[in-house]
Amino acid sequence: MIAYGADHLNIDVAEIDARIADNWSMPTRFYWDPAIFDFEMETIFSKNWLYFGPLHNVAEPGDVAVRQMGKYPIVVTRDRDGELHAFLNVCRHRGYTVVEGDRSKCLRLVCRYHGWSYNLDGTLANAPDADGEAGFCQSDLALRPVAVEQMGPAILVNPDPTARPFRACHPAFAENFENLGFCPDPDRYVMRKEITYDIGTNWKLWYDNGTECYHCPNIHGESFGAAFRSAPEDTEAIYGDGFMTNNWKPQPEVASNQLTSRTFRSYQVFPGIVLIEHDDLLHMSGMVPVAPGVTQHVTHYLGDRDSDPERIDAWIDLWDQTYREDNEITAVQYDNIETARQPYNRYVHAREEAAKHFNAITWQHYKEALLG
Ligand code: FES
Ligand SMILES: [Fe+2]
Repeated sequence: MIAYGADHLNIDVAEIDARIADNWSMPTRFYWDPAIFDFEMETIFSKNWLYFGPLHNVAEPGDVAVRQMGKYPIVVTRDRDGELHAFLNVCRHRGYTVVEGDRSKCLRLVCRYHGWSYNLDGTLANAPDADGEAGFCQSDLALRPVAVEQMGPAILVNPDPTARPFRACHPAFAENFENLGFCPDPDRYVMRKEITYDIGTNWKLWYDNGTECYHCPNIHGESFGAAFRSAPEDTEAIYGDGFMTNNWKPQPEVASNQLTSRTFRSYQVFPGIVLIEHDDLLHMSGMVPVAPGVTQHVTHYLGDRDSDPERIDAWIDLWDQTYREDNEITAVQYDNIETARQPYNRYVHAREEAAKHFNAITWQHYKEALLG
């Protein structure tokens, strides 16, 4: 564990407390400084719950799904008894990738470098020609576990194998999620598409952008803005312990071939889980940082199995266009912020309360790590 201190990172805690209370961002240096990025990876993204993918990808015994999540190569399996497991996808022999490709169905995980094989629960099954070798202890050479959970239709992982369960980390979220009935039935949906974006921006700019709709009329006039009513009077946001939920007032009936949203409910859980259910689409996504100026956003779209597939694809195209517009904006913003070195960004509370909420959560994580 690396020790971090406010002095070491040149952070003035009192100054930032005052700025945040007065509707400013954290210092813009935090968006591009590599030392800050390393600090965030260690203190935030190594020990919080993250979105891995849809339940549908690991629904059956023998299903195996793989993702590079920021710096962590992760493999999730469902064993023969139906139990979920997650591991670092790194061979205990000499560190090659155990499972290559995105998904497979198998009885064992076999590293192709020298042929070591692992059971679906991560234990080492066989290491060729290692039998009887002095000091070779097969039971010590299981894949390194990470925490994994199913939450509704989503699979979540936490790189910290000792992490508390997701619901214990976010009790208000769990209560809200269940009380409001946002527990989409996985059987209602079929997987339609996965799109991954590697965005040329910092993860905190991605957050700001994704949590406010101040920009929607300007940037998404022909995409999101055309299909959703997102003015403050049409939406109700609830803020809780590391999450936000948005419930939009039901809109009048529209023709079934028309892309105008009637219902919308979303959950965003720090740091980077996004679940959205609207109309006949279930849209789940997750963000993980890759570098100070590179952010990965993986998106999964599931459509109601009784809906017209063409309509579902039209929704997906609309979201894809929306994200491309956002990605273009936030990449320019990142470059400018790194160059201009204006010390702070200024939020507008009336339209950016959600961005402020997540900025404050991020700062709280900083303070817990810096001050204990
Ligand atoms: S690195 Fe996996 S078997 Fe050698
Ligand atoms: Fe946007």
